[in-house]
Amino acid sequence: MARILITSAIPYINGIKHLGNLVGSQLPADLFARYNRARGNEVLFLCATDEHGTPAELAAAKVGKPVADYCAEMHDVQADIARRFGLSFDHFGRSSSDENKALTQHFAGVLAEQGLIAETDEEQVYSNADGRYLPDRYIEGTCPNCGYDKARGDQCENCTKQLDPIDLIEPRSAISGSTDLEVRQTKHLYLRQSQMRAELQAWIDSKTDWPVLTTSIAKKWLNDGDGLQDRGITRDLEWGVPVKRGTEAWPGMEGKVFYVWFDAPIEYIACSQEWVNANKGDDWQRWWRTDAGADDVTYYQFMGKDNVPFHTLSFPSTILGSREPWKLVDYIKSFNFLNYDGGQFSTSQGRGVFMDQALDILPADYWRWWLLSNAPETSDSEFTWERFQDGVNKDLADVLGNFVSRVTKFCRAKFGEEVPKGGSFGPRETQLMADITGRIRTYEQLMAQMEVRKSAAELRSIWALGNEYLQEVAPWTTVKEDPEQAQAQIRLALNLIRIYAVLSAPFIPTAAASMMSGMNTLDFSWPEGVDGDDSAFTALPAGHAFTVPEVLFAKITDDQRKEWAERFAGIRT
Ligand code: MF3
Ligand code: ZN
Repeated sequence: MARILITSAIPYINGIKHLGNLVGSQLPADLFARYNRARGNEVLFLCATDEHGTPAELAAAKVGKPVADYCAEMHDVQADIARRFGLSFDHFGRSSSDENKALTQHFAGVLAEQGLIAETDEEQVYSNADGRYLPDRYIEGTCPNCGYDKARGDQCENCTKQLDPIDLIEPRSAISGSTDLEVRQTKHLYLRQSQMRAELQAWIDSKTDWPVLTTSIAKKWLNDGDGLQDRGITRDLEWGVPVKRGTEAWPGMEGKVFYVWFDAPIEYIACSQEWVNANKGDDWQRWWRTDAGADDVTYYQFMGKDNVPFHTLSFPSTILGSREPWKLVDYIKSFNFLNYDGGQFSTSQGRGVFMDQALDILPADYWRWWLLSNAPETSDSEFTWERFQDGVNKDLADVLGNFVSRVTKFCRAKFGEEVPKGGSFGPRETQLMADITGRIRTYEQLMAQMEVRKSAAELRSIWALGNEYLQEVAPWTTVKEDPEQAQAQIRLALNLIRIYAVLSAPFIPTAAASMMSGMNTLDFSWPEGVDGDDSAFTALPAGHAFTVPEVLFAKITDDQRKEWAERFAGIRT
């Protein structure tokens, strides 16, 4: 039994995620977690909300709530949606937890001891009226390039020119509008990532089995020079992890917090401590400390491509630079972007379908199946309502759903609601069992390699084999000439339903559960049988009672498709 640690990139707290975010990290991570549990591996699957930083402060200010309250509420909202999507986290933590505060401060302290933190003096804009330093994007003024009067200190949205706050004409605070601003000297901490270059290079070079998407991004930043510049890890904000050196005060850093990208990945570890403190687990160290058994763990991270530099360079710098025995990631699965109907999903513009809206119109399995079977692995992929309708109707309704309903209804009508006992398997059945067994072995390999689309395609082929068999042996005809033989055919087909449920559960857990309850069984055992061992195909013995499950998947009608396309064409406000 292997021990598998899985983390998904932790979603920002401000707002509900869209389907592009979901398919780029949490959903494939869940697929992998469920698969590994099904194979009997010991899995720890963690995710959390990423709660610090300017966007959280701004979002809270916009709705007029204290930022801590806003985060607590949004965490619960996201946790609820994740649950309804079937995301099977062992714990869904919060980067603002006490555990993460202490651990982030701990890492800063040990990195400083290792000589990897530099203190610098910088000039920064202070607002007397607001009583605080202003991050670049909190300063507004007139663009020196185009004259737009709402340019931000980091960039002019109108002409896209990158700016420094001092470039702005008539700068003012974006918080209060005050022009009573001054430039002050202030101290900041930098993580000296540049010192880690050779070590990171060797580590990344050793990862020959990683997806090209992951290594190409890592190497680009490593070799371009820019990516490994020392990184500022502190900010003049109120909301965040207070800067401390371990448990000690850090002179000159009063009132400052760590940069959100410094504390967020540390939450992967802190989350496991939250899991223990919530009495869901009893030992986090055996997952994370190589001096406490974590050497046996294989650690997988899932994320969108925009997150790769932070996970291949910055966070490993924190881990390696600490010179403490923390577990490093073994495999980084990254994803391209999912586009929406000819453009991009956009949180800031509210474009596309968001997780809560998706569940308002269809159950999670429809989305899980389509998103995973179209995961943007080798290139960006695109959601359109036509493609969604087509995928759901063909794969789920016509292939899987239809198989289950034909077999169970036919059996009920002809032989009653129990597995029929007549006849025996002949060459055609032997061949089907061999074909399916072979494909299951391929499916296992693809799932283990996190080849998400290919796994979905293999599963679809396994479903299709059942339909082809039914079509060919036509039990509805056989029953007239040789009812015993028809019974054997249906006995095999009913067993296929159980096997399909077990194989499909990582993709479509709810439908799989209805198939299992229809088959009246708790036998979730994986069809391990090698060629010639057909025990998986007789797990439901003759005489075993079952019921006809409710319709598993309803087809998406053209009217629905049109209505939804229109409903989601606009901008969510
Ligand atoms: N919140 C970031 C995003 O949504 C991801 C943070 S991942 C972590 O893109 F490593 F920082 F945890
Ligand atoms: Zn401009």
